[in-house]
Amino acid sequence: MSAADFVPAGADLDGLRRAAVDCRGCHLYENATQTVFSKGPVSARVVLVGEQPGDVEDRRGEPFVGPAGKLLDRAIEEAGLDPADTYTTNAVKHFKFTPAAGGKRRIHATPDAREVGECRPWLVAEFALLDPEIVVALGATAGKALFGPSFRVTKSRGMLLPWPASAYDPGQFERADDGARASSFALATLHPSAVLRADDRDAAFAGLVADLRIAAGALV
Ligand code: URA
Ligand code: SF4
Repeated sequence: MSAADFVPAGADLDGLRRAAVDCRGCHLYENATQTVFSKGPVSARVVLVGEQPGDVEDRRGEPFVGPAGKLLDRAIEEAGLDPADTYTTNAVKHFKFTPAAGGKRRIHATPDAREVGECRPWLVAEFALLDPEIVVALGATAGKALFGPSFRVTKSRGMLLPWPASAYDPGQFERADDGARASSFALATLHPSAVLRADDRDAAFAGLVADLRIAAGALV
């Protein structure tokens, strides 16, 4: 089973979004509230990929609207990126969590490689429609979804990489028509949740902004 059984051929972004509502491509839909797809225009020059929706996103049905999203919004602004020119999505589109002992709280659980792989057809379908100048992978899960399982954010963060990533699954993540930009880049950085958890939050935030400035600098 994977999301491939649910991705409609030839759909536009709204068609993908509608079809994703009913995705049963892996078991994660069972306990989550709803599919959280993406936000932003298909024409965005900057595409940001996170891990999976969090607790707030699961309830609201929109990506990056909780605490990590607020921090990301601030970092985007400080880096000089235009928020209206960004498209934001996640490697996995349902919230994976474990219930906290005894309570109602839901604790984020990192999606494993299998779940990321099962959800990946959505990401591939999105990139067939998108035409980014720069793709930003936020954290390890997004990095692996976009660049392959051996990708290490800690080793490659802040570096401009060629896009589409050709070493991994050549042909995937390419735009479906011939109208793609002549050159685009990708860049990996920290996940905003890692900034929230960091001992030195200010330094971690500054690092995220510095990486996003590099992304902004790659825009022509
Ligand atoms: N973290 C993510 O990776 N994505 C979201 O949408 C929210 C938090
Ligand atoms: Fe489908 Fe992805 Fe949700 Fe799994 S996490 S059910 S593959 S949308």
